[in-house]
Amino acid sequence: MFRNTVTTSAPGKLLLFGEHAVVYGRPCIVTAINQRLYVTAELLDEPVVRIDAPDINIHSETPLSDLSSQQFLECAVLNMKATHGVHITTKSDFLSTYGFGSSSASVVALLKALSHKINNNDLFSLAYKTILEVQGVGSGFDAAAAVYGGTLVYTKNTPPVELKASGMPLIVGYSGVKADTATIVKDVAIKKEKEPEKIGRIFDGIAEYVKQASETVSQGDWKRAGRIMDFNHEYLRDLGVSTHKLEDMISAAKKAGAWGAKLSGAGGGDCMIALVADDKRKAVTDAIAEAGGQIMDVEPNAEGVRIEK
Ligand code: MEV
Repeated sequence: MFRNTVTTSAPGKLLLFGEHAVVYGRPCIVTAINQRLYVTAELLDEPVVRIDAPDINIHSETPLSDLSSQQFLECAVLNMKATHGVHITTKSDFLSTYGFGSSSASVVALLKALSHKINNNDLFSLAYKTILEVQGVGSGFDAAAAVYGGTLVYTKNTPPVELKASGMPLIVGYSGVKADTATIVKDVAIKKEKEPEKIGRIFDGIAEYVKQASETVSQGDWKRAGRIMDFNHEYLRDLGVSTHKLEDMISAAKKAGAWGAKLSGAGGGDCMIALVADDKRKAVTDAIAEAGGQIMDVEPNAEGVRIEK
């Protein structure tokens, strides 16, 4: 059991390479970001789970015996087999609409608060189980970023491999539209069912770029990593998950001199990312903003889950 009150935090994430293909067993590269999700868990005498999550507008009180496996935080408490009531408060550095993985980060931070001695591998397994139960789909890359932090090559059912990725010259632009990840992942599954060979070839192509990107990222060859971003994005466009807004932001970044740019995550909205030389940074951020994107103040390579106090 945990101390009477514990506060933990876990980072949000950005997918750098390999989205969608990772759902089908190919690798991806994900980085944890410096925007964090905080959870405070306070032990209660009554057998209830009280949730105050103002960022996502949830204020609820549920008997321990009635917890729902459809709700991320309640499902996490269920999976932790908690025998005590708990008051859970969340606070986020970022809006849940950005696609930075607020649900996964909140599950990871809560599980850590409920069992702060848990090791990272067990924490990841429990978090991924919780996310799959609630969401039905997902590769677990977001939980891996929230638990381990840093920049990871992640493949389902395989321990993640940390990449040295210091000094990544990343720019992040939010499209203003929240992506419905579960629906987009299901749409891609339908396409794969209809055209298994074509979609399989796209996933294999993406996997090859992820392999190349993991070498260039660890060498700090950002110019080449940018080129690979462009190639990866072409495959995502072929998959049909990009949007006009994302395309406008990406081509604006490229025209202003970015080494490379792509959508990040499921597509259909959320963010685009670009790798950019220092002397082009201002021109690229201005161009993305001009195309209607919101520039996000995000640093990659952040620390994984931690106990705050
Ligand atoms: C969504 O952010 C990334 C996807 O690859 C889904 C997943 O890996 O869970 C589309």
